Amino acid sequence: MTVPTTFDLLRQSTPVVSVGILTADLLSLGSELALLELSGIGVVHVDVMDGCFCPMMTVGPPFIKALKTPLLKDAHLMIDEPLHKVADYVAAGADIVTIHPESCSHVHRVLQQMRVMKNANHPEKGLVRGVGLNPGTPLEVLEPLLDELEFILILAVNPGWGGQKLIAATEGRVEKVKRMIAASGREILLGVDGGITRDNIAAVAALGVDLIVTGSAVFDGKTAEENAKFMMEAARKGAGSRQQEVRSEKAGREQP
Ligand code: DX5
Ligand code: ZN
Repeated sequence: MTVPTTFDLLRQSTPVVSVGILTADLLSLGSELALLELSGIGVVHVDVMDGCFCPMMTVGPPFIKALKTPLLKDAHLMIDEPLHKVADYVAAGADIVTIHPESCSHVHRVLQQMRVMKNANHPEKGLVRGVGLNPGTPLEVLEPLLDELEFILILAVNPGWGGQKLIAATEGRVEKVKRMIAASGREILLGVDGGITRDNIAAVAALGVDLIVTGSAVFDGKTAEENAKFMMEAARKGAGSRQQEVRSEKAGREQP
């Protein structure tokens, strides 16, 4: 029996909600993770900041390794020069590794390097190589990289903190990246990260993205389980409304 790859698992469950775990109560991490598992969340997002690319310093490979969970681990590396650092995140058990071209002199090389790395916990499942883009970065930077990545993460806020407001230009950027992906003929997952709330998650899912990162909306207010369920359900509804729209448009075009 063939084991589905991490990429296939994500693609089959789109829209995937990936929960930013650093917004949780880190002293109760085990129980917070258990709540996410109960809610049906499949992916946990770890915002790695090094105090250089981002003013904040958060966690590194030992934290990712310490996350005892069946959830997929989505490592968002907001760090300077990841070339000689990604291997440690992969060895720590990351399933998705996203790097930033803004902080990387050899972004193509890092992606090439990751192509031959093995998923540490599930070698047969493979890694998903992601490229994240800050709100101020021209999208053209993606073009030469499209053959060496499986995932594009559009940041809807400037990296550094949770709880910021989604930047309105994100919608247009997502639409443009979708056109770039379609023109490439490659299967590439698309995600949005930052500023996702109960009020806008359905609209973001309706843009047709595959993965949505959310942190504070899950850990603020009600219990994480309740919030996570709400976010997943709203994302599903948003994605469903888009599919409906696409079907009606297609039917309209097919009218004689
Ligand atoms: C921004 C991070 C995001 C962010 C998500 O630097 O990459 O993952 O913390 O948190 P919320 O959902 O609170 O914007
Ligand atoms: Zn992130």
